[in-house]
Amino acid sequence: MSAEKMNVNWYPGHMTKAKRMMQENMVLIDLVIEVLDARIPLSSRNPDIDELAKNKSRIVLLNKSDLADPKLNQKWMKYFEGKGAHALEINAKTGAGVKNIRPLVEKACKEKIERDRKRGIVNRPIRAMVVGIPNVGKSTFINAFAGKACTKTGNKPGVTKGKQWIRLGKNLELLDTPGILWPKFEDRQVGMNLAYIGSVNDEILVLEELAAELLETIRTRYPGLLNNRYQIEEEGDGNLLLERVAESRKCYAKGEVLDLKKASGIVLDDFRNGRIGRMTLEE
Ligand code: G4P
Repeated sequence: MSAEKMNVNWYPGHMTKAKRMMQENMVLIDLVIEVLDARIPLSSRNPDIDELAKNKSRIVLLNKSDLADPKLNQKWMKYFEGKGAHALEINAKTGAGVKNIRPLVEKACKEKIERDRKRGIVNRPIRAMVVGIPNVGKSTFINAFAGKACTKTGNKPGVTKGKQWIRLGKNLELLDTPGILWPKFEDRQVGMNLAYIGSVNDEILVLEELAAELLETIRTRYPGLLNNRYQIEEEGDGNLLLERVAESRKCYAKGEVLDLKKASGIVLDDFRNGRIGRMTLEE
């Protein structure tokens, strides 16, 4: 499960180091491919990315689009395009949408290719780096995008030792390790959103609180879905909704006492796997 894998432990020292590494890598590349979680496109963004990637061509990938609201996927794509990036919705797990990236790379780097041509440089490959906060699907995406057809080009002068480029055809090279960035932790809602999707270790959270708040959010944003999934009345606050889920799913601790922790686990697991329905939490 991704939440365990991630174990966020960012503290300022880590962030400074990650930022420095990112800056070093930025010098080497033409194109930044930013992977976001389509269910929370803003919360899953690194706040410094615009500054770090300024002057680079940009592609924003709304990944896990299969779990997000299709209408809002469209809206978010327009939003990022309005900000000067090229945007695409994908499902890195199945590979859906991935084939549309290559044409977008050409489009995003058109100016660079033109500039090179004018200076007599032909066919210098575009160099790209995948970036994103933990758990948005960067590794899954690199695998889907690079596939089996790619070859590693090995170390090159000017590239920090150990850095590998994956060659994708004649004109594209991808840094084989993604740039891992941190989300914006100070904002409570951002923290909750990241916790809902499983990007924060569940052990440090009060599950019942998280589930209750999520239930309230779902009820408000997508009325009817909770009734559909759990056959419960949708009035009342999050705690009441959680109790109803516990009753409906027969989560009892001892005798008649409801096991809210168990019910919380069910709700979060259902949400993370898209079983309640496709949802986007930010608009
Ligand atoms: P990262 O490198 O950014 O940290 O993320 P990673 O690729 O490890 O992906 C994190 C989790 O998200 C994985 O699930 C992965 O399968 C899942 N995932 C990635 N892209 C998509 C997508 O487009 N749609 C859906 N539904 N899931 C996606 P996991 O729980 O860690 O493993 P598993 O369940 O795949 O075994």
